[in-house]
Amino acid sequence: MRTIAIINLKGGVAKTTSSINIAYILTTRGYKVLLVDNDKQGDCSRGLNRRTSDGDGIDRIMTDRHPDMQSLIRNTDYVGLDIITANLGLLTANMEVTMDRVRPQQNRLKKALQQVADRYDFCVVDNAPDINISVINALTAANDVLIPVEVDDNTLEGMNELLEQIQEVKEELNPDLQNVKCFISKFQKFNEAHKQGAEIIREQYPTMQTLIRASAVVARSTFARTPVALHSPRSAAAEDYEKLVTEYLDMIGGVQDGEI
Ligand SMILES: Nc1ncnc2c1ncn2[C@@H]1O[C@H](COP(=O)(O)OP(=O)(O)OP(=O)(O)O)[C@@H](O)[C@H]1O
Ligand SMILES: [Mg+2]
Repeated sequence: MRTIAIINLKGGVAKTTSSINIAYILTTRGYKVLLVDNDKQGDCSRGLNRRTSDGDGIDRIMTDRHPDMQSLIRNTDYVGLDIITANLGLLTANMEVTMDRVRPQQNRLKKALQQVADRYDFCVVDNAPDINISVINALTAANDVLIPVEVDDNTLEGMNELLEQIQEVKEELNPDLQNVKCFISKFQKFNEAHKQGAEIIREQYPTMQTLIRASAVVARSTFARTPVALHSPRSAAAEDYEKLVTEYLDMIGGVQDGEI
């Protein structure tokens, strides 16, 4: 199993939209995928119609010494896609973790995922706009980090801090972290400022070729609790997420359909 963490300190840059669509598209290419909602907002869980109560999801992975993965993993409406949910219970769980002076705090997700590594080809982890202990756990578990970036006035705010944090986790905790790449989300191709902003991002940071264009249907698909790639497959955003997954699979050297 290969783990992809979708991360950015900034809010609203399309982390959840990207997590759901990348995970869903990977299943349409024949892969088995586990989506981990690692954000107390629980947007991924809501987006796939799988909201749960406290103690039924990622919060248990953070607090339990031997989390029962069998009971924490739920199926979704999509073949090949399972989910570990999140809700506000993650807030208290994280407080508990940071006060625990006995067990290591950063590798809890990694250890839990190792239990199910032979059941999935990919694990996609959606994160909160933060660097908290949950996000550090995602970085510690990840092989690849994808950073959605929205082009706006303060696009790059926090980016250097994030990249430094990622580098530190790689050096100290996770030698298996291989690729760290930005990709541009909500791109307006007729907007000159967006075009210039995208160029600046490409010059300064390792960036995927594929840009995700802004599409009005994304909000509608969120409301319909359906991945946009299924809801409106011919929309610009859906086409771009398909391309992004292809580019990602090329990057890691996977074949396009089936086993990696
Ligand atoms: N390609 C797109 N085109 C248009 N709107 C988009 C696109 N991608 C995401 N959005 C919209 O942007 C908003 C934020 O998206 P999303 O919730 O995925 O961001 P996020 O980074 O997960 O936010 P948070 O930091 O709160 O977790 C949503 O309203 C979503 O519908
Ligand atoms: Mg989100």
